[in-house]
Amino acid sequence: MTARRIRVGVFTGGASNERDISLATGAQIARSLPADRYEVVLLDPLALMARNPALSSARRAEAEALLRSGGRVDPGHQLPRGLEREIESASGALVPASRVITGAAEPPDVVFIALHGVWGEDGRIQGLLDTLGIPYTGSGVLASALAMDKAMAKRVLASAGLDVPRDAVVRGAAGDDLARAAAVGLPAFVKPVASGSSVGAAIVRRPEELAPAIEAALREDDRALVEEYVQGRELTVAVIGNDQPRALPVIEIVTKHPFFDYGAKYDAGESEEIVPARIPDEVARRTQALALRAHAALDCRGMSRTDFVWSADRLVVLEVNTIPGMTANSLLPKAAAAAGIPFGELLERLIGWALEDAARRRR
Ligand SMILES: Nc1ncnc2c1ncn2[C@@H]1O[C@H](COP(=O)(O)OP(=O)(O)O)[C@@H](O)[C@H]1O
Ligand SMILES: [Mg+2]
Repeated sequence: MTARRIRVGVFTGGASNERDISLATGAQIARSLPADRYEVVLLDPLALMARNPALSSARRAEAEALLRSGGRVDPGHQLPRGLEREIESASGALVPASRVITGAAEPPDVVFIALHGVWGEDGRIQGLLDTLGIPYTGSGVLASALAMDKAMAKRVLASAGLDVPRDAVVRGAAGDDLARAAAVGLPAFVKPVASGSSVGAAIVRRPEELAPAIEAALREDDRALVEEYVQGRELTVAVIGNDQPRALPVIEIVTKHPFFDYGAKYDAGESEEIVPARIPDEVARRTQALALRAHAALDCRGMSRTDFVWSADRLVVLEVNTIPGMTANSLLPKAAAAAGIPFGELLERLIGWALEDAARRRR
């Protein structure tokens, strides 16, 4: 007799500005989990948010449409190049997550969270799933919330001995806020405290660019992080595992853009991701050790990916991602492939770790 298949609810779509990438990821996860062992349904948590006043009215209208149609929502904007088909195919297969939450549909054995940014990567969905008693991939509430708040994460990382950029956190672009931001010095890097995919981020080279950059960041979040601009080579290190996490090979990011912005991240051909990074072995080992330390400092589970800039003798941590990009071509899956772990197997391991943690909690 064959064992029952594991029911995986892939949480995909959602309300963040990374909705499209999430949908592409959901489609690829659904396709890559072996059908003889996994039964996959794409669940869209946007459906839970139709009455959430924190969302824009356009997003709430999308949520309503999702509930009415039982699936399809039109993006109403241009999709990242190369991923259009996958986003389309996922959009056509969405099931409102509200059906599972309300008990109208059978709950999955495990949720694969393929959401990024706020309302997905930041602990809130994790808290909901904890409340429902449904196991899920990746980090729990605290690590997720901490990592998403770049300002708070930096405090914890600094106290664990990691080097992070000097910064100021501001809520406005005038008066005392502007003065504190200017004190960071130029060039500076401005980004929202909690966001992702470089949305609302900019390099500031001239004094008159500072206030507009802060205003742009504040369109994404109510706090902006103004950091010293760290010039150097961009590296990123993924860590996977539960009780014995391991660092995957270091990836070097070379972009044609002035920094690793949204287009550089998602439009084909705009950036090169070189694995293993062309850096001395000693630097690679040091970067991997720092990524493991960052993962542990924030109490991550299952996976994380820490972004660095290597500048002269400094290895500066920019941020820790608790749900890094998970399309087959994304950085973490690429690093895993370089370490001999194909995409499908990586997904299975992440699901296995989620079930392992849940089994341990069961009384
Ligand atoms: N302090 C900084 N100095 C130089 N470049 C930065 C700095 N902070 C961010 N960047 C650039 O912006 C990109 C996005 O920043 P990051 O902190 O990784 O946020 P996210 O990836 O969540 O949008 C980085 O990959 C890097 O290219
Ligand atoms: Mg990043």
